[in-house]
Amino acid sequence: MSRETGNNRNLNPSNNPHMDSVLETYLSRRHVLRGGLGAAIAMIAGVGLTGCFDGGGSSSDDSPSTPTQPTPSKPLALNFESVGVSRTDAAVVPAGYTASVLAPWGTPLNSKASPWKNDGTNTSTDQANAMGMHHDGMRFFPINGSSEDGLLVVNHEYIDQKALHPNGATRDGNGNRPAEEVRKEINAHGVAVVRITKVDGRWQVIQNDPLNRRFTTASVMDLRGPMRGTEHVRTAFSTDGTITRGTNNNCGNGYTPWGTYLTCEENWPEVFVNRSTTLPRDQDRIGMPTASSRYGWETAAGDVSEQNGEFARFDLTPSGASATEDYRNEASTYGYIVEIDPFAPNSNAVKRTALGRFRHEGCWPGLTKQGKPVVFYSGDDSRFEYLYKFVSKALWDEADAKPSNPLATGDKYMNEGTLYVARFNADGTGTWLPLTVDAVAQNGNTLGSIYGDLPGIILNTRGAADAVGATPMDRPEWTAVNPVNGDVYLTLTNNSSRTETNVANPRAKNVNGHVIRWHESDDQVSFNWDIFVFGSDANAGPETNLSGLTDMNQFASPDGMGFDSRGILWIQTDNGGNAVAQVTNDQMLAVIPSNLVDAEGKQLPLRAQNQNELRRFFVGPNGSEVTGVTFTPDNTSMFVNIQHPKNWPYSENATEATPAGVTVRPRASTVVIQKADGGELAV
Ligand code: FEO
Ligand code: CA
Ligand code: CA
Repeated sequence: MSRETGNNRNLNPSNNPHMDSVLETYLSRRHVLRGGLGAAIAMIAGVGLTGCFDGGGSSSDDSPSTPTQPTPSKPLALNFESVGVSRTDAAVVPAGYTASVLAPWGTPLNSKASPWKNDGTNTSTDQANAMGMHHDGMRFFPINGSSEDGLLVVNHEYIDQKALHPNGATRDGNGNRPAEEVRKEINAHGVAVVRITKVDGRWQVIQNDPLNRRFTTASVMDLRGPMRGTEHVRTAFSTDGTITRGTNNNCGNGYTPWGTYLTCEENWPEVFVNRSTTLPRDQDRIGMPTASSRYGWETAAGDVSEQNGEFARFDLTPSGASATEDYRNEASTYGYIVEIDPFAPNSNAVKRTALGRFRHEGCWPGLTKQGKPVVFYSGDDSRFEYLYKFVSKALWDEADAKPSNPLATGDKYMNEGTLYVARFNADGTGTWLPLTVDAVAQNGNTLGSIYGDLPGIILNTRGAADAVGATPMDRPEWTAVNPVNGDVYLTLTNNSSRTETNVANPRAKNVNGHVIRWHESDDQVSFNWDIFVFGSDANAGPETNLSGLTDMNQFASPDGMGFDSRGILWIQTDNGGNAVAQVTNDQMLAVIPSNLVDAEGKQLPLRAQNQNELRRFFVGPNGSEVTGVTFTPDNTSMFVNIQHPKNWPYSENATEATPAGVTVRPRASTVVIQKADGGELAV
């Protein structure tokens, strides 16, 4: 989420393409998509605008090769009634469904943690051995293919200091934070791996399972890929630049085709501060704070209990004679995709630096195909930032789907490859612009000459993307890939600062956000795109409510997103400050994009004539964001996270409202949604 922790200044200094009258251009293109497809193809002179959404064709060269589930015996269709809007201290699910609270903040993972206390007095050691705060992206890893036993890997994006401590955050007379409070905060961030199992129809945490573990902002992690061992990442903690401590502000997530978890570092710059007169260019472009950090962790430096600069490392201001004598480079070890093998409890998490350094939201793989590269998509969530793609150098070998050493397989596919950034063209095509040493920037210089070498480019990913002319987007959040046809979807959550529009972000002052999608060409350097759905309140005029949403599916600020194995797309919201927020809490909606086709089988976007295919499935409690979605292999249990609720949960029944006049210490939590009859969800 970024409502509270994000940096929404426009830090993009580039003049990358903005276009006048693009809404007009967009609308005429929309008409083309709606209208005769033969005419559309003729109009765009072979560009292939509509061919890109030739969903599900099994004979084309870029068709999916690895469907994750058997073909269903009957056509897939949603079979629930949209739930209404809600503004209560309770979760809402359709009739016939249950929703249970699972593994809320503070749930002990092992016997080193005391039970969660309702007064904020749990210790930093308790917190290091318990579920963290502010659950976000997550994934279910079944054990032996089971839909009743597995590991849930959960991001803990950020913290609520008021709930975490007995009296919120405190400082001493010198303005310094107490070491114990800081350690507790550091330990409340990161990722949890927790064994869960279903007993008598109800999911529960298995305490003391040997696979339970926490990664925090203090855990030692490996640096791999181009940044490893370079001058950029050498610190007093790692003078050879091969390791670092911690992952932070883990928002969206992803996974790999070889069975590991990916967690994404989003709003990490704000845990640091750099009081230097002049910032390094990468820190300037990423928005590094210069006056104070978000939590003041660096103010605990010098405490008699401090070990190995555990607090000093959050102050980037040079103090030593060289980079290996201080922590000026500490922030250069953040901003990455981090790979975790949940089944190897003694392994370090690995920062996969080849995938770029920015405010990573999610990281979703494209469909794999034998002999083709492995591809990952990742958005950079700030206003006017970009969409990125990583293409592996190694070609996919199906034998790697179940490797004996998954992190070594990660080395194979994620350490070498090409990082691209997206440019969306007005004719419905797109171009992936490589961020390589030989890539020529708009000023005629190569990126190698601007940034020195590949590590220099990665350190300055945003700047390199500016230089080659990427398209500034309305806060790229999660990506998701349709298992049916390989189409890729990206949530663009909102951008109220947009004045100049572009084709991919066609609404000025975009307070509602939209979802864009594309289909890759087989050459990996071009794609075709359209806008799948526009967020809006139901009462907005047609210039805003471009998808014709109604009371039953109005939404805004799409953020979390995922496809289940059947091809149902689940869209989650992190909304606030607009008309939709006046009528409903954050929510999750479902749609089956592959069912939205014209007479020729071409994929259609959501518009007024088919908007009823988008249905509201879930609404969260007051104050919360709905984020993170994953499923059991049989799609009978769905896990969804409730982040930063205001006055919830009241009981293990997520749909039981906190009674009026009752105040509970809020706890972010996973919610398990099941059909009361145990059947498959949504259909
Ligand atoms: Fe943490 Fe971009 O939401
Ligand atoms: Ca968000
Ligand atoms: Ca998010």
